[in-house]
Amino acid sequence: MAGTPSCQEQVCQDPAQPAPEQSGALTKAPAAQTQDALAFVRGYMAFLLPRDLNLLWTIGAMLMAVLVLMLLSGLTLALTYTPDASLAFSSVEALERRAPSGWLLRSLHMTGATFFMAALYLHVFRGLCYGSYRAPRQGLWRVGTVLLVLVMVTAFAGYVLPWGQMSYWGADVASKAVGAIPLVGNTLERVFLGGDAPGTATLHRMFVLHFTLAFTIVGMVALHVAVLHAKGSTSPSGLAGQSRARMLPFHPYFTIKDGLGVVMLAILFMLVMCFWPGLVTEVENYRPANPLHTPANIEPEWYFLPFYGMLQAVPSKFGGLLVSGGAVAILFFVPLLDRGTSATFAAGRWGGLRWLPRVALMVLVFSFVLTGLAGRNHVQGIWLLVGRLATLGYYLYFLGFLPFYSRLARKEARS
Ligand code: HEM
Repeated sequence: MAGTPSCQEQVCQDPAQPAPEQSGALTKAPAAQTQDALAFVRGYMAFLLPRDLNLLWTIGAMLMAVLVLMLLSGLTLALTYTPDASLAFSSVEALERRAPSGWLLRSLHMTGATFFMAALYLHVFRGLCYGSYRAPRQGLWRVGTVLLVLVMVTAFAGYVLPWGQMSYWGADVASKAVGAIPLVGNTLERVFLGGDAPGTATLHRMFVLHFTLAFTIVGMVALHVAVLHAKGSTSPSGLAGQSRARMLPFHPYFTIKDGLGVVMLAILFMLVMCFWPGLVTEVENYRPANPLHTPANIEPEWYFLPFYGMLQAVPSKFGGLLVSGGAVAILFFVPLLDRGTSATFAAGRWGGLRWLPRVALMVLVFSFVLTGLAGRNHVQGIWLLVGRLATLGYYLYFLGFLPFYSRLARKEARS
């Protein structure tokens, strides 16, 4: 009412409620809230990290940078995309050919997916290399594994959206793999497809999944970084962390190093996107989905090839699904398979066995690449044998080497 001060102006106070200064952060004055936010940022900037962190530790920052790029480009792409089987392909083509800088947006998003997955694999490799999953960082590793699964599902759902030949047949192969699960397979397949074959209902499902998981990933990354700040970073030499003199604050030392890593990545990114786009695109996916014509070579994006190879290396469909899904799931159990702590490993003298973890890691990486090559060659002829041996090599690292090595380390640290 005119002339009467509004409730907000008068600051109406219910006598039953605590006074503003007593009731917590939400009722704090804006100036106090700004102070809190500044203190939070200052805390992060002053966070102490081992001074011996190498370039592999900048990959986390690269992942964050690419994640932001993916979210911004994805949100803009979503403005013109139509999740309908008869319109999806042409909506993407229209964006590429007619919308101002549409081609650039799509290229950023497609190149971003490849770089994100490559950086993610390197990030996991770094963790395995330096035992970053050991106590006290098991929780951090597990949050990371959940992130890996979320990113993979998001990437798969995104690949279906343009509704090219590979999108369609990729969805078809994935649905048949899901359908091979005993008892619930058929139901799950129908839930996944929204019908008997990939179509508009599948596209709706993939679009919603792609969109919602992207934001779930942001939340999980925040959790990942918060846990990292609670537990601290691994020291590659094993020496830092034992004394404050071997630590440096995050800013300016690591902000500059991370910045350099991101700039290097951006240069590589632009080179690939502008001069070698064929590296991140699949020719067959520039043909509209055709349920009546199966392409001669159905294969997923490069980052799923190792799992595709494992899927095919096993004679039974369900067995293949277990082995290829298990290859990701096993990462979750790495902290249980290797029960040593960083301190155990720092204390171990390792006699003549220092070379062993390096050789084992090389076997793991080699096996992972070989399963991918086998997948690319449809696990036929000699590739069947290669695919099977490589799958064995991959699992041997986790189920054989890790438990053996950590037992040895604990024994040596005790003696
Ligand atoms: C969206 C995906 C991810 C993002 C954005 C992300 C981001 C980060 C960042 C910023 C750091 C700190 C800097 C660094 O150590 O590089 C970090 C550390 C770490 N991340 Fe991730 N990460 C992701 C996925 C993963 C995955 C899949 C794993 C493992 C399965 C993982 C395991 C770890 C571990 C163990 C550390 C601590 C390393 C240490 O001890 O110093 N992360 N991550």
